[in-house]
Amino acid sequence: MAVGVDADGNPTLFGVPIKFLVCCLLVVQNGGAVLLMRSVRALPGEKEFVTQTAVIMQECLKACTCMAVMKCQQLSVSQAWGDTVETMKTSVPALLYLVQNNLQYVAVGLLDAPTYAVTYQTKVFWVAICSAVFLGRQIKNQQWFALMILMGGVCAVQYQPSTGGKDDASQSVAMRATGVCMLLGAALCSSLAAVSFEKLLKGSNVDMWTRNLQLAFFSIICSAVPLLLSSDGSRILEVGFFHGYTPLTWTCIAMNAWGGLLVGAVIKYADAILKDISIGASICVSAGGSVFLFNAEITWNLVIGIVFVSWAVPLYAGRASLGLFSMAPPPETKAYKPVAQTEVVVMGKEGPHTVSDE
Ligand code: C5P
Repeated sequence: MAVGVDADGNPTLFGVPIKFLVCCLLVVQNGGAVLLMRSVRALPGEKEFVTQTAVIMQECLKACTCMAVMKCQQLSVSQAWGDTVETMKTSVPALLYLVQNNLQYVAVGLLDAPTYAVTYQTKVFWVAICSAVFLGRQIKNQQWFALMILMGGVCAVQYQPSTGGKDDASQSVAMRATGVCMLLGAALCSSLAAVSFEKLLKGSNVDMWTRNLQLAFFSIICSAVPLLLSSDGSRILEVGFFHGYTPLTWTCIAMNAWGGLLVGAVIKYADAILKDISIGASICVSAGGSVFLFNAEITWNLVIGIVFVSWAVPLYAGRASLGLFSMAPPPETKAYKPVAQTEVVVMGKEGPHTVSDE
């Protein structure tokens, strides 16, 4: 059987734990997406489209993918809206992601690149704190230390010394302080969104595809309303919704949409902390890829950062010691205990029937 469970009760695919597979996929996908975005930005004329239209298309593609999978699983799409209270709960992460995006959007104009990169990386701590507070997850001292090393490594990889140019001088202390506060807020929103989505996935019997469909629906509303009210709204009425779209724009949209679904799968099969650890590792993959693809310079901070991250990941998993790598057994963590997810009654085409949640 391709699908099974291991000795710890974790679902497996061909004997490999699915949580391990989805984390590795996220590292590759996220790293690849960053490299793709970079190559798109490098092409002239690729920034003609209104960014917010791409966000909406991304959510539409996510919704279509979810509906296609639900159809294959013989789940009725309408059951996603059957229980109003459960459906409305998904608006919480959607709203948090909306606030996060807008805070990041403003903060990027107030901060220089190094401060931005370092401040946003604090999210790996926020997500651990939120997991401990809201999900009761116990994090060992060694794991806190691993998260600190990971954060240091990712910051080092992303660090580019300030040029000391006009832009740096024109940023007042007050502007920078406002930017830092906004970005800390964005990092907190990202963590709260991930943890609340984890709670929704593991704390109820609503399946992952239904939750993703609901999230995409709320995200479309959250993106479309501000777009219509902004100056970009009148611009797209003038030039058309798909103005400036090229095959590469569509590729980025697909990458982000399926990347988002992969984030959901990592949160379901692993957890919100491992999601941020995978994204941290993917930053090293994309930085390393830039060296090969775009002839980026190999700097000391890149090398040190990659070494730190390569140490932090097995250290968090309990597969490395504080000194050298060792195959010590993973530390026992008190996992978030989901509700029993054996069978769910769903409204299929042929009436109510039970399906397994996996
Ligand atoms: O920066 P952060 O790690 O919070 O980004 C996670 C991204 O994953 C967000 O852009 C969010 O929209 C996306 N996501 C998604 N579907 C999910 C969970 C997260 O598209 N189920």
